[in-house]
Amino acid sequence: MKIRPRRLRRTPLLREMVAETRVHPRQLIQAHFVVDDPAAKVAIASMPGIQRMGVEPLVDRIGGDLELGLTTALLFGITKEKDPLASSATNPDGLVPRAIRRLREEFGSRLTIVTDVCLCGSTDHGHCGVLRAGQVVNDESLPLLSAMAVAHAEAGADIVAPSDMMDGRVAALREALDAAGLSDTAILSYSTKFASAFYGPFREAADSKPQAGDRKSYQLDPRNAREAVRESQIDTEEGADMLMVKPALSYLDIIGHIAATCEVPLVAYNVSGEYSMVKAAAERGWIDEGSVVTEILHSMVRAGSDLVITYHAREALQKGWLK
Ligand code: PBG
Repeated sequence: MKIRPRRLRRTPLLREMVAETRVHPRQLIQAHFVVDDPAAKVAIASMPGIQRMGVEPLVDRIGGDLELGLTTALLFGITKEKDPLASSATNPDGLVPRAIRRLREEFGSRLTIVTDVCLCGSTDHGHCGVLRAGQVVNDESLPLLSAMAVAHAEAGADIVAPSDMMDGRVAALREALDAAGLSDTAILSYSTKFASAFYGPFREAADSKPQAGDRKSYQLDPRNAREAVRESQIDTEEGADMLMVKPALSYLDIIGHIAATCEVPLVAYNVSGEYSMVKAAAERGWIDEGSVVTEILHSMVRAGSDLVITYHAREALQKGWLK
């Protein structure tokens, strides 16, 4: 007898029948960049197809996304109001809280709103925490991050997602949310976030590049897998409702390790640089974009992610790439 795995690859229907991994629109999260000017819609050069949007174009865009079956939106606030202590980020009537209220008024519970919680977009030095003598100080950053999360949750965010990588921030956020009577707001921790060059295009989009130094004193070293798993365990103990691995494509092994042990939903962040590389190669006709995106998104789910944050989400559904 010859062993013939090809039998089940013979027809499209057979292949479909035995597929081990499927990606459903509910597993995809589209990220959005919100700006102060309510009517703005500005292209981001390094991320073709993605714009910075004021709240009104954002409402239109998300309305279209909902029709495609994309029911979760991740919001980043992009502001020109920057100072050492990120005061625009903690303002209860700031940019992101206003956008959340408007989206909630428009879409009610049809939309799940996730917000990025980090100081880097609102600090004049561009670091994710408070800077003292050139050092990012951990514990002083926690009350600011907590205030930011409470402002988002009070405005109606379903899930707050701290991406700063300060130690103890999940516990600090949970305590602050509960103290403010917001015990139903979930925390999606960017638990395993590497110091990665794949964030380059995002930093252009968000204007959040550090003025001096880098993020290596708080984000993980890309060489460390054991430490990556430990970060996810710490955040689970601190009360994270969901975990994340970011970036995703060069870290599928980490997704696999964490998925095997974690007991909460796991999210992969298919980051800006991963998106831009695909876009650039596709523009040159070097790869078939739809097939590559389909392969990438399935690889993240196959590795063990329950959900994927990706800038490709809308286009993938619009163009039927995942069918
Ligand atoms: C904020 C933040 C970053 C990203 C998400 N939240 C940038 C960074 O840490 O420098 C990157 C997202 C992407 O590249 O798509 N801290």
